[in-house]
Amino acid sequence: MSRMSNKIAVVVGGRGIGHAIVRRFAAEGACVYATSRETIYENSTADYDGGSIRGVRADAGNLADLGQVFARVRTDEGRLDSLVINAGTGGVASLGEINQAYFDQVFGLNVRAMVFAVQGAIELMREGGAIVLVGSTADTSGARGHGVYSASKAAVRSFARTWANELAPRGIRVNVVSPGPTDTATFRATPQAVRDALTRTIPLGRIARPDEVAAAALFLASDESSFTTGSELCVDGGAAQI
Ligand SMILES: NC(=O)c1ccc[n+]([C@@H]2O[C@H](COP(=O)([O-])OP(=O)(O)OC[C@H]3O[C@@H](n4cnc5c(N)ncnc54)[C@H](OP(=O)(O)O)[C@@H]3O)[C@@H](O)[C@H]2O)c1
Repeated sequence: MSRMSNKIAVVVGGRGIGHAIVRRFAAEGACVYATSRETIYENSTADYDGGSIRGVRADAGNLADLGQVFARVRTDEGRLDSLVINAGTGGVASLGEINQAYFDQVFGLNVRAMVFAVQGAIELMREGGAIVLVGSTADTSGARGHGVYSASKAAVRSFARTWANELAPRGIRVNVVSPGPTDTATFRATPQAVRDALTRTIPLGRIARPDEVAAAALFLASDESSFTTGSELCVDGGAAQI
């Protein structure tokens, strides 16, 4: 049997790494509701290797949009088994350069919207449910210029610990998958010199493929990780581990 058979999943932020997660979950038999501000999933209903993808046009940073996503899942399915919050944003600003708009953009999406998405979803979740938050290995690093992003991902890591504890009595697990540099359009948009410098810090000598992060998310979202909660699974070629 496939690892996500009969599971209803929502992936908030279904592009980039999220797109790999959506496709992998569907290929493992899940019915996946995938959000994006873009039209890639809009009104789409695709059967996919035993599972299916339901596109929902929604802004991951907009709480009203997120409420509508969960309302639709409630109406259509009546429950939610797996929730992945992939949406996230970053940028570079060192102390002295951080302005309020940048701070609010990063914390507004990575932390505020994430908190209220999870809060809006948990009443749909039952015993055996799994929440996967996409963090970053930046959560433990002090790379120059990345203070706001790193702090936002440290907050994600922290919430996972508390929520794992709070939701344990309901049999709902909460974990973080933390990628290192990963080959998405966003990463490709950074200057080549920065990408090369980052790649040199990775023991395995390359950046991650999105499907490698999706494999970790699949483990944490499926029953294969039934005794794992409050943890962080890093997919970083060893960069933050050694
Ligand atoms: N790529 C990396 O190297 C890397 C490394 C470590 C951690 N991560 C984390 O992995 C996750 C996915 O990264 P990615 O590279 O796949 O990112 P991405 O392709 O830039 O975006 C992924 C999703 O986030 C949503 N999003 C981004 N900015 C948004 C904004 N301002 N408002 C609303 N939604 C927004 C996008 O929504 P739309 O579909 O609506 O555009 C998209 O679906 C993020 O949490 C990121 O912090 C990435």
